[in-house]
Amino acid sequence: MTTNASAGGSANEEQERFWNDVAGPLWVAAEEETELHTGPFGEAALAVAAPGAGETVLDVGCGCGSTTVALAAAVGPGGSVLGVDLSAAMLARAQERAAACEAPQVRFRRADAQVADLGPGSFDLVFSRFGVMFFADTVEAFANLGRALRPGGRMVFVCWQAPSANPWMAAVNRGAARIFSLETPPHDAPGPFALCDPDHLDAVLRAGGFSSVGITAHEERLHMGLGQPVEDWVHQRLLMGPARSAYLDAGPVRQREVRVALAQELDPYRVDMGAPASGMVMDAAAWIVDARP
Ligand SMILES: C[S@@+](CC[C@H](N)C(=O)[O-])C[C@H]1O[C@@H](n2cnc3c(N)ncnc32)[C@H](O)[C@@H]1O
Repeated sequence: MTTNASAGGSANEEQERFWNDVAGPLWVAAEEETELHTGPFGEAALAVAAPGAGETVLDVGCGCGSTTVALAAAVGPGGSVLGVDLSAAMLARAQERAAACEAPQVRFRRADAQVADLGPGSFDLVFSRFGVMFFADTVEAFANLGRALRPGGRMVFVCWQAPSANPWMAAVNRGAARIFSLETPPHDAPGPFALCDPDHLDAVLRAGGFSSVGITAHEERLHMGLGQPVEDWVHQRLLMGPARSAYLDAGPVRQREVRVALAQELDPYRVDMGAPASGMVMDAAAWIVDARP
């Protein structure tokens, strides 16, 4: 298993800073909870990808490596899986995980999947669980990933549907944007919702060289913030979201007011209003994409 010292030649410096300095350590710390929410979507995408024994797989934006080791188990010792990611902290966790699973067919590389030379015609399957929505130039990125596929290969990934279908992520962000008067970014700006419009998603895949594109909806109901005060959950979401800087700059008194206000807005999602730490049930929806050149 190898990890380069830096992503080198990144076309996504802002994202690289974000996933190294901000989100990476938070993701590693919150890994178990995140896995509960993203796991079912990853399993659904893996079922579509159907990695077979002996195949070579690229896991794009592999993060802490949970899907990378699942792919390794599917391809077996005769196959191989390369996990690429921008975040050193997340890759370090991924390496730990692969070592614990004794998966010698797994390698990791710190690289920007939009521009890195991944080896033309190297993979049977390009896979990603929520790792392809952060490219500055999505068409260039999909073209690069397409070049890495062998003839007859497929790319299967899962990405989020619109914010309105994902209140678990959008409710706090929307409330915080209102409170801090944040500008709404363009709909396709790098971020969790960059590929949420299926027409746009279809168009960028085709512009990137994929002529067969299948997009299927997958929905889940997520249990969030179980066993913790809703205000604490709101705090975590604010630290991960677009209002992070405004929230951190606000100072402790204002921060508490914001948390209380946003926690109240989440009352409709609470499952037991009597218990202070009972959690919320919130909808989540993603697209599962199967694309072929
Ligand atoms: C939402 S996280 C998903 C992580 C992991 N796939 C999972 O499901 O737990 C997005 C991941 O994509 C990575 N990423 C973002 N832009 C990337 C790029 N241009 N090249 C490689 N990885 C990237 C981030 O560092 C992060 O680990």
